[in-house]
Amino acid sequence: MNYILFFKRILFAPIKKIKTFFYNKKYKKEIAKIYKENFIWSAQVGIVDDIGVKRGTSMAKTIINSINNAFKINLKSNKNKNDSKYFNIFPGEHYRLLAGLIDYEKPKTLIDIGTSSGMSSRVMLDYSKIDSEIITFDLIKWNKFNSHLSKNDFKSRKFTQYLEDLSNYDIFKKHLALIDKADLIFLDAPKDGVFEYLFIRNLVKSNLSVKKRFLILDDIKFLNMIKLWRSIKSPKFDLTSFGHASGTGIVDISSNIEVDPIAFE
Ligand SMILES: C[S@@+](CC[C@H](N)C(=O)[O-])C[C@H]1O[C@@H](n2cnc3c(N)ncnc32)[C@H](O)[C@@H]1O
Repeated sequence: MNYILFFKRILFAPIKKIKTFFYNKKYKKEIAKIYKENFIWSAQVGIVDDIGVKRGTSMAKTIINSINNAFKINLKSNKNKNDSKYFNIFPGEHYRLLAGLIDYEKPKTLIDIGTSSGMSSRVMLDYSKIDSEIITFDLIKWNKFNSHLSKNDFKSRKFTQYLEDLSNYDIFKKHLALIDKADLIFLDAPKDGVFEYLFIRNLVKSNLSVKKRFLILDDIKFLNMIKLWRSIKSPKFDLTSFGHASGTGIVDISSNIEVDPIAFE
């Protein structure tokens, strides 16, 4: 064998490989440092860069059927309520998708966090089974708004409003049995960059029983919600194109919620 070829193949090539290995290792370490210190959350998620989305494909049947229902549903609007016009904006608003999901999944216990004028509670009341239970949370009583709800809704159905803050862990624990029982939680509260993070951290901390349970998160495209949404590792799917233009996400929390702790840093 030619001596030059011998040195190249037997001696230099392995040395080159070892050098490349250590160089890549160093490079990876530097990149990881930059990534950690300058990471910018992007709103767009895909199957290749988000484990939650990858796992979320397991919800395909629920998603497809809910969307299919949403295309067909026409929600009753009330001309005396200004915000009634939002019921049937589809896509763009989440009410028809919510109705479509309830119609398909038939949840027995529904929690609505953020009552406001009661549009989401109205959809829950009108699209869930008559014997299902609906609980809505706010800090302001429902009748302080030009509400889509009536006293009769509270009398004729298993329908309750609590004026309590579920971001507070003691209050959360007080309602834990109810949260555990829920088949559907609709989270549409202040989106102030605090409440939703604390509520989800409370969920992470609690040991929910394993049962089919969905969480709908509103406004996942808000800048202050992106970190939270991206950190969710449980099966999830971005349904914005068929929901609220500011972002609608569905998370399967059947075996509680798994979140990257970076969300809470
Ligand atoms: C966007 S509105 C909810 C809209 C409602 N889901 C609907 O479809 O009509 C947000 C509501 O969250 C309520 N809110 C603010 N902080 C809250 C908290 N800590 N717990 C529960 N609700 C809260 C606000 O009072 C407001 O009524």
